Amino acid sequence: MAEFDLVIRGGRVATASETFDADIGVRGGRIAALGSGLGRGAREIDAAGRWVLPGGIDSHCHIAQLSSSGVMTADDFATGSTSAACGGTTTIIPFAAQHRGNSLRQVVQEYHARADGRSLVDYAFHLIVSDPTEQVLGQELPALIRDGYTSFKIYTTYDALKLSDRQVLDVMALARREGAMMMVHAENHDIIAWLSEKLVQAGRRQPSSHAIAHHPIAESEATNRVIALAELLDVPVLFVHVSAKEAIDQIRAAQARGLKIYGETCPQYLFLTADMMDAPGDEGAKCMCSPPPRDKANQEFVWQGLRGGVFEVFSSDHAPYRFEGPDGKKAGMAAGGFKKVPNGIPGLEIRLASLFSAGVLNDIISINQFVALTATNHAKMYGLYPRKGTIAVGADADICIWDGTTERTITQSELHDAMDYTPYEGMKVRGWPVVVLSRGEVVSQDGKPVGRLGRGEFLRCEKPDPARPRGRWPFNVEVQTILG
Ligand code: URP
Ligand code: ZN
Ligand code: ZN
Repeated sequence: MAEFDLVIRGGRVATASETFDADIGVRGGRIAALGSGLGRGAREIDAAGRWVLPGGIDSHCHIAQLSSSGVMTADDFATGSTSAACGGTTTIIPFAAQHRGNSLRQVVQEYHARADGRSLVDYAFHLIVSDPTEQVLGQELPALIRDGYTSFKIYTTYDALKLSDRQVLDVMALARREGAMMMVHAENHDIIAWLSEKLVQAGRRQPSSHAIAHHPIAESEATNRVIALAELLDVPVLFVHVSAKEAIDQIRAAQARGLKIYGETCPQYLFLTADMMDAPGDEGAKCMCSPPPRDKANQEFVWQGLRGGVFEVFSSDHAPYRFEGPDGKKAGMAAGGFKKVPNGIPGLEIRLASLFSAGVLNDIISINQFVALTATNHAKMYGLYPRKGTIAVGADADICIWDGTTERTITQSELHDAMDYTPYEGMKVRGWPVVVLSRGEVVSQDGKPVGRLGRGEFLRCEKPDPARPRGRWPFNVEVQTILG
Protein backbone atom coordinates (compact mmCIF):
# COMPACT_ATOMS: atom_id res chain seq x y z
CA MET A 1 0.00 0.00 0.00
CA ALA A 2 1.48 3.34 -1.04
CA GLU A 3 1.77 6.02 1.63
CA PHE A 4 1.13 8.87 -0.82
CA ASP A 5 -0.79 9.34 -4.06
CA LEU A 6 2.31 10.92 -5.50
CA VAL A 7 5.90 11.49 -4.46
CA ILE A 8 8.13 13.98 -6.26
CA ARG A 9 11.55 12.73 -5.38
CA GLY A 10 14.92 14.38 -5.00
CA GLY A 11 14.22 17.84 -6.42
CA ARG A 12 15.62 21.21 -5.40
CA VAL A 13 12.66 23.03 -3.88
CA ALA A 14 12.42 26.81 -3.78
CA THR A 15 9.78 28.91 -2.07
CA ALA A 16 9.69 32.70 -1.77
CA SER A 17 12.00 32.50 1.25
CA GLU A 18 13.88 29.17 1.25
CA THR A 19 15.73 26.74 -0.98
CA PHE A 20 16.18 23.12 0.10
CA ASP A 21 16.40 19.56 -1.20
CA ALA A 22 13.31 17.52 -0.42
CA ASP A 23 10.87 14.88 -1.54
CA ILE A 24 7.27 16.05 -1.70
CA GLY A 25 4.48 13.69 -0.70
CA VAL A 26 1.04 14.46 -2.10
CA ARG A 27 -2.23 13.07 -0.76
CA GLY A 28 -5.75 14.10 -1.78
CA GLY A 29 -4.42 16.90 -3.98
CA ARG A 30 -2.51 18.57 -1.15
CA ILE A 31 1.06 18.52 0.01
CA ALA A 32 1.09 16.02 2.87
CA ALA A 33 4.82 15.78 3.63
CA LEU A 34 8.15 17.38 2.84
CA GLY A 35 11.38 15.62 3.74
CA SER A 36 14.05 13.21 2.65
CA GLY A 37 13.45 9.52 2.08
CA LEU A 38 9.65 9.79 2.09
CA GLY A 39 7.66 6.54 1.81
CA ARG A 40 6.38 5.16 -1.44
CA GLY A 41 3.91 6.96 -3.67
CA ALA A 42 1.33 5.31 -5.94
CA ARG A 43 3.01 7.47 -8.55
CA GLU A 44 6.56 8.74 -8.38
CA ILE A 45 8.28 11.49 -10.32
CA ASP A 46 12.05 11.70 -10.34
CA ALA A 47 12.98 15.37 -9.98
CA ALA A 48 16.72 14.90 -9.39
CA GLY A 49 18.66 17.80 -10.85
CA ARG A 50 15.52 19.85 -11.34
CA TRP A 51 13.96 22.88 -9.72
CA VAL A 52 10.66 22.16 -7.98
CA LEU A 53 8.71 25.40 -7.62
CA PRO A 54 5.16 26.43 -6.76
CA GLY A 55 2.88 26.56 -9.79
CA GLY A 56 2.64 30.04 -11.20
CA ILE A 57 -0.26 32.35 -10.43
CA ASP A 58 -1.16 34.83 -13.13
CA SER A 59 -3.25 37.49 -11.45
CA HIS A 60 -3.69 39.68 -14.51
CA CYS A 61 -5.12 38.03 -17.59
CA HIS A 62 -8.16 38.74 -19.73
CA ILE A 63 -10.05 35.61 -20.65
CA ALA A 64 -13.47 35.34 -22.27
CA GLN A 65 -13.71 39.07 -21.63
CA LEU A 66 -15.74 41.49 -23.66
CA SER A 67 -13.78 44.74 -24.02
CA SER A 68 -15.48 48.08 -23.49
CA SER A 69 -15.56 48.51 -27.28
CA GLY A 70 -17.30 45.16 -27.69
CA VAL A 71 -14.44 42.90 -28.78
CA MET A 72 -14.28 39.41 -27.26
CA THR A 73 -10.83 38.10 -26.35
CA ALA A 74 -9.59 35.28 -28.56
CA ASP A 75 -9.13 33.04 -25.54
CA ASP A 76 -11.98 31.42 -23.72
CA PHE A 77 -11.46 29.42 -20.54
CA ALA A 78 -10.50 26.28 -22.45
CA THR A 79 -7.70 27.81 -24.52
CA GLY A 80 -6.64 30.36 -21.90
CA SER A 81 -6.31 27.82 -19.10
CA THR A 82 -4.56 25.33 -21.39
CA SER A 83 -2.05 27.96 -22.40
CA ALA A 84 -1.56 28.82 -18.73
CA ALA A 85 -0.91 25.18 -17.76
CA CYS A 86 1.53 24.63 -20.62
CA GLY A 87 3.56 27.59 -19.40
CA GLY A 88 3.55 26.51 -15.75
CA THR A 89 0.68 28.63 -14.43
CA THR A 90 -1.71 26.67 -12.23
CA THR A 91 -3.97 29.48 -11.04
CA ILE A 92 -5.38 32.29 -13.15
CA ILE A 93 -7.24 35.36 -11.97
CA PRO A 94 -9.02 36.96 -14.92
CA PHE A 95 -11.64 39.69 -14.69
CA ALA A 96 -15.40 39.83 -14.58
CA ALA A 97 -15.79 43.16 -16.32
CA GLN A 98 -18.68 45.50 -15.65
CA HIS A 99 -19.74 47.78 -18.48
CA ARG A 100 -21.68 50.91 -17.59
CA GLY A 101 -25.29 50.16 -16.77
CA ASN A 102 -24.56 46.52 -15.88
CA SER A 103 -25.34 44.95 -12.54
CA LEU A 104 -22.08 43.64 -11.09
CA ARG A 105 -23.81 40.56 -9.70
CA GLN A 106 -25.14 39.70 -13.13
CA VAL A 107 -21.73 40.25 -14.70
CA VAL A 108 -20.21 37.80 -12.23
CA GLN A 109 -22.86 35.20 -13.11
CA GLU A 110 -22.13 35.63 -16.82
CA TYR A 111 -18.40 35.14 -16.33
CA HIS A 112 -19.02 32.05 -14.23
CA ALA A 113 -21.12 30.64 -17.05
CA ARG A 114 -18.17 31.20 -19.40
CA ALA A 115 -15.74 29.45 -17.04
CA ASP A 116 -17.83 26.63 -15.57
CA GLY A 117 -16.67 23.23 -16.71
CA ARG A 118 -14.08 24.62 -19.12
CA SER A 119 -10.91 25.39 -17.21
CA LEU A 120 -7.90 23.13 -16.93
CA VAL A 121 -6.51 25.04 -13.93
CA ASP A 122 -8.05 26.70 -10.89
CA TYR A 123 -9.32 30.25 -11.21
CA ALA A 124 -10.68 33.17 -9.25
CA PHE A 125 -12.11 36.45 -10.49
CA HIS A 126 -11.26 40.08 -9.98
CA LEU A 127 -14.04 42.53 -10.75
CA ILE A 128 -13.73 45.54 -13.05
CA VAL A 129 -15.79 48.41 -11.68
CA SER A 130 -16.69 50.99 -14.32
CA ASP A 131 -20.02 52.16 -12.93
CA PRO A 132 -19.86 52.77 -9.18
CA THR A 133 -23.51 53.63 -8.65
CA GLU A 134 -25.14 53.75 -5.23
CA GLN A 135 -26.51 50.26 -5.83
CA VAL A 136 -23.06 48.95 -6.78
CA LEU A 137 -21.24 50.63 -3.90
CA GLY A 138 -23.92 50.18 -1.30
CA GLN A 139 -25.00 46.61 -2.01
CA GLU A 140 -23.51 44.63 -4.87
CA LEU A 141 -19.81 45.20 -4.27
CA PRO A 142 -19.83 44.64 -0.48
CA ALA A 143 -21.82 41.41 -0.99
CA LEU A 144 -19.50 40.20 -3.74
CA ILE A 145 -16.43 40.94 -1.62
CA ARG A 146 -17.95 38.81 1.14
CA ASP A 147 -18.63 36.06 -1.43
CA GLY A 148 -14.95 35.76 -2.39
CA TYR A 149 -14.39 38.40 -5.08
CA THR A 150 -12.04 40.44 -2.93
CA SER A 151 -10.20 42.50 -5.52
CA PHE A 152 -11.30 44.91 -8.20
CA LYS A 153 -9.71 46.94 -10.92
CA ILE A 154 -10.54 50.52 -11.80
CA TYR A 155 -9.35 52.68 -14.68
CA THR A 156 -8.36 56.32 -14.96
CA THR A 157 -8.55 56.12 -18.76
CA TYR A 158 -10.65 54.71 -21.65
CA ASP A 159 -13.89 56.60 -22.34
CA ALA A 160 -16.10 53.69 -21.33
CA LEU A 161 -14.19 52.72 -18.18
CA LYS A 162 -12.60 55.75 -16.61
CA LEU A 163 -13.63 56.94 -13.16
CA SER A 164 -13.41 60.55 -12.03
CA ASP A 165 -11.25 61.35 -8.99
CA ARG A 166 -14.43 61.65 -6.99
CA GLN A 167 -15.54 58.18 -8.06
CA VAL A 168 -12.07 56.85 -7.27
CA LEU A 169 -12.50 58.24 -3.74
CA ASP A 170 -15.89 56.54 -3.49
CA VAL A 171 -14.51 53.13 -4.40
CA MET A 172 -11.43 53.65 -2.24
CA ALA A 173 -13.59 54.35 0.78
CA LEU A 174 -15.47 51.14 0.06
CA ALA A 175 -12.28 49.10 -0.43
CA ARG A 176 -11.01 50.41 2.89
CA ARG A 177 -14.20 49.56 4.72
CA GLU A 178 -14.64 46.10 3.17
CA GLY A 179 -10.97 45.05 3.04
CA ALA A 180 -10.73 44.61 -0.73
CA MET A 181 -7.60 45.02 -2.83
CA MET A 182 -7.78 47.83 -5.37
CA MET A 183 -5.96 47.48 -8.67
CA VAL A 184 -5.51 50.63 -10.70
CA HIS A 185 -4.85 51.16 -14.39
CA ALA A 186 -3.22 54.56 -14.10
CA GLU A 187 -2.90 56.73 -17.19
CA ASN A 188 -4.08 60.33 -17.59
CA HIS A 189 -7.01 60.16 -19.98
CA ASP A 190 -6.89 63.75 -21.18
CA ILE A 191 -3.19 63.66 -21.99
CA ILE A 192 -3.74 60.53 -24.10
CA ALA A 193 -6.88 61.91 -25.77
CA TRP A 194 -5.25 65.27 -26.53
CA LEU A 195 -2.05 63.76 -27.95
CA SER A 196 -4.06 61.22 -29.96
CA GLU A 197 -6.19 63.95 -31.48
CA LYS A 198 -3.11 65.93 -32.53
CA LEU A 199 -1.48 62.82 -34.00
CA VAL A 200 -4.61 61.92 -35.98
CA GLN A 201 -4.99 65.52 -37.20
CA ALA A 202 -1.40 65.34 -38.44
CA GLY A 203 -2.24 62.15 -40.33
CA ARG A 204 -0.07 60.02 -38.06
CA ARG A 205 -2.36 57.02 -37.71
CA GLN A 206 0.33 54.35 -37.65
CA PRO A 207 0.88 52.01 -34.64
CA SER A 208 3.92 53.97 -33.42
CA SER A 209 1.62 56.90 -32.56
CA HIS A 210 0.13 54.73 -29.81
CA ALA A 211 3.41 54.90 -27.88
CA ILE A 212 3.59 58.67 -28.29
CA ALA A 213 -0.01 59.20 -27.14
CA HIS A 214 0.41 56.96 -24.09
CA HIS A 215 3.32 59.07 -22.86
CA PRO A 216 5.18 58.03 -19.68
CA ILE A 217 4.04 61.33 -18.14
CA ALA A 218 0.41 60.26 -18.66
CA GLU A 219 1.24 57.16 -16.63
CA SER A 220 3.17 58.91 -13.88
CA GLU A 221 0.66 61.76 -13.48
CA ALA A 222 -2.21 59.34 -12.90
CA THR A 223 -0.03 57.21 -10.64
CA ASN A 224 0.91 60.21 -8.55
CA ARG A 225 -2.70 61.38 -8.34
CA VAL A 226 -4.03 58.00 -7.27
CA ILE A 227 -1.25 57.68 -4.69
CA ALA A 228 -2.37 61.03 -3.25
CA LEU A 229 -5.98 59.84 -3.05
CA ALA A 230 -4.87 56.54 -1.50
CA GLU A 231 -2.82 58.40 1.09
CA LEU A 232 -5.73 60.67 1.91
CA LEU A 233 -7.96 57.69 2.71
CA ASP A 234 -5.23 55.30 3.94
CA VAL A 235 -6.09 52.68 1.34
CA PRO A 236 -3.66 50.12 -0.11
CA VAL A 237 -3.47 50.21 -3.91
CA LEU A 238 -1.76 47.99 -6.45
CA PHE A 239 -0.74 49.68 -9.70
CA VAL A 240 -1.01 47.22 -12.56
CA HIS A 241 1.13 46.94 -15.71
CA VAL A 242 3.68 49.58 -14.70
CA SER A 243 5.92 50.35 -17.65
CA ALA A 244 8.24 53.29 -17.15
CA LYS A 245 10.76 55.00 -14.89
CA GLU A 246 8.52 57.94 -14.00
CA ALA A 247 5.74 55.75 -12.56
CA ILE A 248 8.26 53.41 -10.92
CA ASP A 249 9.82 56.41 -9.18
CA GLN A 250 6.40 57.50 -7.90
CA ILE A 251 5.68 54.05 -6.51
CA ARG A 252 9.12 53.68 -4.95
CA ALA A 253 8.83 57.09 -3.27
CA ALA A 254 5.39 56.25 -1.88
CA GLN A 255 6.70 52.95 -0.54
CA ALA A 256 9.65 54.74 1.04
CA ARG A 257 7.16 56.96 2.87
CA GLY A 258 5.60 53.84 4.32
CA LEU A 259 2.44 53.79 2.20
CA LYS A 260 0.90 50.49 1.17
CA ILE A 261 1.44 51.06 -2.52
CA TYR A 262 2.22 47.99 -4.60
CA GLY A 263 3.33 47.52 -8.18
CA GLU A 264 2.87 44.97 -10.94
CA THR A 265 4.86 44.70 -14.15
CA CYS A 266 4.70 42.36 -17.13
CA PRO A 267 6.89 40.69 -19.80
CA GLN A 268 6.13 43.34 -22.42
CA TYR A 269 8.02 45.95 -20.38
CA LEU A 270 11.11 43.73 -20.19
CA PHE A 271 11.24 42.20 -23.65
CA LEU A 272 9.47 44.54 -26.10
CA THR A 273 10.31 48.11 -27.08
CA ALA A 274 8.27 50.97 -28.49
CA ASP A 275 10.29 50.98 -31.71
CA MET A 276 8.79 47.57 -32.54
CA MET A 277 5.63 49.52 -33.32
CA ASP A 278 7.56 51.08 -36.26
CA ALA A 279 7.53 47.70 -38.05
CA PRO A 280 6.43 47.84 -41.71
CA GLY A 281 2.75 47.89 -42.61
CA ASP A 282 0.45 47.20 -39.70
CA GLU A 283 2.83 44.73 -38.03
CA GLY A 284 3.62 47.22 -35.27
CA ALA A 285 0.06 46.79 -33.98
CA LYS A 286 1.16 43.38 -32.66
CA CYS A 287 2.92 45.20 -29.81
CA MET A 288 0.09 47.62 -28.99
CA CYS A 289 -0.96 47.44 -25.38
CA SER A 290 -1.56 50.07 -22.72
CA PRO A 291 0.69 51.33 -21.33
CA PRO A 292 2.89 50.57 -24.33
CA PRO A 293 6.34 49.00 -24.28
CA ARG A 294 8.94 51.74 -23.76
CA ASP A 295 12.68 51.87 -24.63
CA LYS A 296 15.73 49.89 -23.54
CA ALA A 297 16.53 52.35 -20.76
CA ASN A 298 13.08 51.82 -19.30
CA GLN A 299 13.49 48.04 -19.51
CA GLU A 300 16.49 48.51 -17.24
CA PHE A 301 14.41 50.49 -14.72
CA VAL A 302 11.81 47.74 -14.73
CA TRP A 303 14.51 45.14 -14.05
CA GLN A 304 15.78 47.28 -11.17
CA GLY A 305 12.25 47.50 -9.82
CA LEU A 306 11.92 43.73 -9.91
CA ARG A 307 15.29 43.16 -8.32
CA GLY A 308 14.93 45.88 -5.69
CA GLY A 309 11.43 44.97 -4.53
CA VAL A 310 9.39 47.87 -5.94
CA PHE A 311 7.29 45.30 -7.78
CA GLU A 312 5.28 42.79 -5.83
CA VAL A 313 3.95 40.80 -8.77
CA PHE A 314 4.92 39.87 -12.30
CA SER A 315 1.81 39.10 -14.39
CA SER A 316 1.18 38.66 -18.08
CA ASP A 317 -1.68 41.14 -18.69
CA HIS A 318 -2.59 38.54 -21.32
CA ALA A 319 -5.11 40.46 -23.44
CA PRO A 320 -5.46 38.30 -26.53
CA TYR A 321 -6.73 40.31 -29.47
CA ARG A 322 -5.91 38.72 -32.80
CA PHE A 323 -4.11 40.39 -35.69
CA GLU A 324 -6.37 39.04 -38.44
CA GLY A 325 -10.16 38.83 -38.56
CA PRO A 326 -13.04 41.30 -38.42
CA ASP A 327 -12.25 42.36 -34.82
CA GLY A 328 -8.48 42.09 -35.25
CA LYS A 329 -5.77 44.69 -35.03
CA LYS A 330 -5.29 44.82 -38.78
CA ALA A 331 -8.99 45.58 -39.31
CA GLY A 332 -8.67 48.30 -36.65
CA MET A 333 -5.80 49.88 -38.57
CA ALA A 334 -7.86 49.77 -41.78
CA ALA A 335 -10.84 51.32 -40.00
CA GLY A 336 -9.00 54.42 -38.85
CA GLY A 337 -5.53 53.71 -37.52
CA PHE A 338 -4.05 53.28 -34.07
CA LYS A 339 -7.05 54.61 -32.15
CA LYS A 340 -9.22 51.79 -33.53
CA VAL A 341 -6.86 48.95 -32.63
CA PRO A 342 -7.84 46.78 -29.64
CA ASN A 343 -5.30 47.37 -26.88
CA GLY A 344 -3.63 44.29 -25.50
CA ILE A 345 -1.24 41.49 -26.36
CA PRO A 346 -0.82 37.85 -25.30
CA GLY A 347 1.79 36.54 -22.82
CA LEU A 348 0.23 33.96 -20.52
CA GLU A 349 2.31 30.99 -21.66
CA ILE A 350 5.70 32.73 -21.90
CA ARG A 351 5.47 34.71 -18.64
CA LEU A 352 7.31 32.25 -16.40
CA ALA A 353 9.97 31.00 -18.80
CA SER A 354 10.83 34.52 -19.97
CA LEU A 355 11.49 35.75 -16.42
CA PHE A 356 13.24 32.55 -15.35
CA SER A 357 15.53 32.65 -18.36
CA ALA A 358 16.40 36.34 -18.44
CA GLY A 359 16.08 37.03 -14.72
CA VAL A 360 17.13 33.96 -12.74
CA LEU A 361 19.67 32.46 -15.14
CA ASN A 362 21.34 35.85 -15.58
CA ASP A 363 21.47 36.36 -11.79
CA ILE A 364 19.34 39.49 -11.88
CA ILE A 365 16.81 38.03 -9.46
CA SER A 366 17.17 35.03 -7.17
CA ILE A 367 15.12 31.88 -7.55
CA ASN A 368 13.24 32.91 -4.38
CA GLN A 369 12.42 36.32 -5.84
CA PHE A 370 11.22 34.54 -8.95
CA VAL A 371 8.83 32.41 -6.88
CA ALA A 372 7.62 35.46 -4.95
CA LEU A 373 7.05 37.52 -8.10
CA THR A 374 5.31 34.81 -10.09
CA ALA A 375 3.34 32.90 -7.43
CA THR A 376 3.56 33.64 -3.70
CA ASN A 377 2.92 37.37 -3.78
CA HIS A 378 -0.07 36.94 -6.09
CA ALA A 379 -1.61 34.54 -3.57
CA LYS A 380 -0.95 36.98 -0.74
CA MET A 381 -2.20 40.04 -2.63
CA TYR A 382 -5.47 38.40 -3.56
CA GLY A 383 -6.34 36.27 -0.57
CA LEU A 384 -5.34 32.80 -1.79
CA TYR A 385 -2.37 32.24 0.51
CA PRO A 386 -1.32 29.72 1.86
CA ARG A 387 -3.61 27.40 -0.10
CA LYS A 388 -1.92 28.62 -3.29
CA GLY A 389 1.48 30.06 -4.11
CA THR A 390 3.82 28.03 -1.94
CA ILE A 391 5.22 24.59 -1.26
CA ALA A 392 4.25 23.76 2.30
CA VAL A 393 2.40 21.01 4.10
CA GLY A 394 -1.34 21.63 3.71
CA ALA A 395 -1.03 23.72 0.54
CA ASP A 396 -2.59 22.57 -2.73
CA ALA A 397 -0.09 20.47 -4.68
CA ASP A 398 0.27 23.04 -7.45
CA ILE A 399 3.83 22.38 -8.46
CA CYS A 400 6.12 22.96 -11.43
CA ILE A 401 9.13 20.78 -12.09
CA TRP A 402 11.55 22.81 -14.13
CA ASP A 403 14.16 21.74 -16.58
CA GLY A 404 16.53 24.69 -16.29
CA THR A 405 18.56 23.73 -19.35
CA THR A 406 15.99 23.24 -22.14
CA GLU A 407 16.46 25.85 -24.84
CA ARG A 408 13.38 26.92 -26.64
CA THR A 409 12.58 29.47 -29.30
CA ILE A 410 9.18 31.03 -28.72
CA THR A 411 6.93 30.55 -31.70
CA GLN A 412 3.18 30.88 -32.01
CA SER A 413 2.69 27.44 -33.55
CA GLU A 414 3.90 25.85 -30.29
CA LEU A 415 1.77 27.95 -27.95
CA HIS A 416 -1.70 26.90 -26.85
CA ASP A 417 -3.67 30.12 -26.77
CA ALA A 418 -6.14 30.99 -29.51
CA MET A 419 -4.02 33.77 -30.92
CA ASP A 420 -2.66 34.11 -34.44
CA TYR A 421 0.62 35.70 -33.36
CA THR A 422 2.93 36.20 -30.42
CA PRO A 423 4.87 39.45 -30.08
CA TYR A 424 7.70 37.28 -28.71
CA GLU A 425 8.13 35.27 -31.93
CA GLY A 426 11.76 34.13 -32.20
CA MET A 427 12.71 35.02 -28.62
CA LYS A 428 15.03 32.41 -27.10
CA VAL A 429 14.54 31.17 -23.55
CA ARG A 430 16.34 28.63 -21.41
CA GLY A 431 14.30 26.66 -18.91
CA TRP A 432 10.68 25.50 -19.06
CA PRO A 433 8.32 23.86 -16.56
CA VAL A 434 8.35 20.29 -17.89
CA VAL A 435 5.88 18.73 -15.45
CA VAL A 436 3.06 20.93 -14.13
CA LEU A 437 0.75 19.67 -11.40
CA SER A 438 -2.51 21.18 -10.26
CA ARG A 439 -3.78 19.72 -6.99
CA GLY A 440 -1.50 16.75 -7.61
CA GLU A 441 -2.73 16.07 -11.15
CA VAL A 442 -0.52 16.56 -14.19
CA VAL A 443 -1.93 19.33 -16.35
CA SER A 444 0.99 19.69 -18.70
CA GLN A 445 4.07 17.71 -19.63
CA ASP A 446 6.92 18.99 -21.79
CA GLY A 447 4.89 22.07 -22.61
CA LYS A 448 1.88 20.09 -23.86
CA PRO A 449 -1.51 19.85 -22.18
CA VAL A 450 -2.56 16.80 -20.19
CA GLY A 451 -5.81 16.35 -18.30
CA ARG A 452 -9.46 17.12 -18.56
CA LEU A 453 -10.83 20.55 -19.33
CA GLY A 454 -13.28 21.41 -16.59
CA ARG A 455 -11.19 19.96 -13.76
CA GLY A 456 -10.18 23.50 -12.76
CA GLU A 457 -12.11 24.82 -9.76
CA PHE A 458 -13.38 28.26 -8.88
CA LEU A 459 -11.53 29.74 -5.89
CA ARG A 460 -13.16 32.09 -3.41
CA CYS A 461 -10.62 34.64 -2.25
CA GLU A 462 -10.22 35.74 1.35
CA LYS A 463 -9.88 39.39 2.26
CA PRO A 464 -6.16 39.85 1.67
CA ASP A 465 -3.85 41.01 4.41
CA PRO A 466 -1.98 43.51 2.20
CA ALA A 467 -5.33 45.28 1.61
CA ARG A 468 -5.61 46.28 5.27
CA PRO A 469 -5.21 50.01 5.89
CA ARG A 470 -2.11 51.04 7.76
CA GLY A 471 -4.36 52.39 10.48
CA ARG A 472 -2.03 55.26 11.29
CA TRP A 473 -3.44 58.72 10.94
CA PRO A 474 -0.69 61.18 11.69
CA PHE A 475 -2.16 64.10 9.77
CA ASN A 476 -5.65 63.48 8.47
CA VAL A 477 -7.63 62.71 11.59
CA GLU A 478 -10.54 64.65 10.16
CA VAL A 479 -10.81 62.25 7.21
CA GLN A 480 -10.79 59.30 9.54
CA THR A 481 -13.71 60.84 11.41
CA ILE A 482 -15.65 61.16 8.16
CA LEU A 483 -14.97 57.55 7.13
CA GLY A 484 -15.69 56.12 10.56
O1 URP B 1 -3.57 47.04 -23.37
C1 URP B 1 -3.98 46.38 -22.43
N1 URP B 1 -3.26 46.19 -21.36
N2 URP B 1 -5.20 45.87 -22.55
C2 URP B 1 -5.83 45.08 -21.62
C3 URP B 1 -6.72 45.86 -20.73
C4 URP B 1 -5.97 46.47 -19.60
O2 URP B 1 -6.07 47.68 -19.45
O3 URP B 1 -5.29 45.81 -18.85
ZN1 ZN C 1 -5.18 47.94 -17.58
ZN1 ZN D 1 -5.03 44.07 -18.38
